[in-house]
Amino acid sequence: MVLPALALVAGCAKPITFDAGAIAANRMLAGAPPGFLLGAATSAYQIEGGNHNDWSEWEKGRYPDGTPHVLDGTSATRAADSWNFWRADLSALQLLGANVYRLGIEWSRLEPTEGAWDQAAAARYRQMFAALRAAGITPIVTLYHFTLPTWVAARGGWDWDGAPAALAAFAGRAGSAFGDLVDWWCTINEPNVLVAKGYLAGQWPPGARDPHRAAMALAALMRAHGLMTGALRENDRTDADGDGRATRIGIAQNLRIFDPYSASPVDGIVAGAADDFYNQAFLDAVTLGRVRVVLPGVIDIDQPFPPLAGSLDYLGVNYYTRDLVVGHLGGPNIYTPASAPDRPRNDLGWEIYPEGLYRMLLRYAHRGWPLLVTENGVADGRGVLRSDFLRAHLYAVDRARAEGVEVIGYLYWSLIDNFEWSHGYRGHFGLYAIDFEDPTLTRRPTAAVATFQEAARNLGTLH
Ligand code: GAL
Repeated sequence: MVLPALALVAGCAKPITFDAGAIAANRMLAGAPPGFLLGAATSAYQIEGGNHNDWSEWEKGRYPDGTPHVLDGTSATRAADSWNFWRADLSALQLLGANVYRLGIEWSRLEPTEGAWDQAAAARYRQMFAALRAAGITPIVTLYHFTLPTWVAARGGWDWDGAPAALAAFAGRAGSAFGDLVDWWCTINEPNVLVAKGYLAGQWPPGARDPHRAAMALAALMRAHGLMTGALRENDRTDADGDGRATRIGIAQNLRIFDPYSASPVDGIVAGAADDFYNQAFLDAVTLGRVRVVLPGVIDIDQPFPPLAGSLDYLGVNYYTRDLVVGHLGGPNIYTPASAPDRPRNDLGWEIYPEGLYRMLLRYAHRGWPLLVTENGVADGRGVLRSDFLRAHLYAVDRARAEGVEVIGYLYWSLIDNFEWSHGYRGHFGLYAIDFEDPTLTRRPTAAVATFQEAARNLGTLH
């Protein structure tokens, strides 16, 4: 464990600093090829409203000390009401010059009870996908983005050994219901974040703080992804966009930089171990075709699982921030994050570190998968950080591409302000702001829309 961890820290984690002049001088995406995917992302539960699942149940609860599970005491009952206002979202995408939109379908809405299928909900999703295509915007559809139907949660959620097969059955059904309109699929959003928040930090359902359960849940998510890929390939045989391929399947993996705070070996070892579990484990499983989760002293799972091999057509990269790791060898937390001096932070306190995107793109280049930035964004309720954030992160993409990395697209998170999980409505990530007190939920362009449009003009998707 120690040696690979040290090698990892030494090998991939060379902190660098971008030159502000180079970012300002860069013509964003001017060198990207015509098929480059440029757009924005959302998830079903965070924008749709009207859903009932394990998260809507969790929102009603409190911690033993009385603090609500959602810090501002809100819920996603209405959210941005995109279930009804989806045409406003489509107009917002068109104004940006987007040629792609990553959105989710909500499992609990389509299959509210085991084996059921809500035809009216499916028809609404078909309407959305068809309208996107008619507008020249390719849908990328996420099948599982943190929320489980209550019937799955009641059986134990990811502790239930039937969960991977149940999600795969849903994926197969979605493949046949929408495959003529959808080629690009994202099976699972951020399995690592789900496990960290739901099974280690106890901040999301099921509210566990149990490394053993966390490791088992991660293994179950690996199996689910492998089975979902098989189900999609079997059930979606229609090439919707005429490029000769009926499916393009990926996951969206949250990649976070873990840099040691100091030269102390403990910081280095702990940063390496965090990187291993968080960034690397799922991708190793896919590469090796094995369900493999190793947490020293906690669990050692390593089993062949052939459906995982070759299961990624692209790697979705969700990149937000870095942690500077002050490691601990004992105690409940393996590290505390330290602040980087002189670096801006977003409204949720996350360091803005565009160099990290560049480093991750370089690190995951040449692994056999093209890279698609499936999320990258900033919580910025005042609208003072987002333009610079976008410019700097597109510079990271351009620079990686110029160095030969196959980055096939960039999606900003999020298209619109939305329900930011345990932060409620406090995390304003949207290119379009929404005042959630205003019954019209009008999507109002932030200053970053003009920056996005500049990139779209350079790319040629906006005239
Ligand atoms: C990602 C997640 C999104 C969104 C975003 C901003 O981890 O996929 O659902 O919440 O972070 O926090």
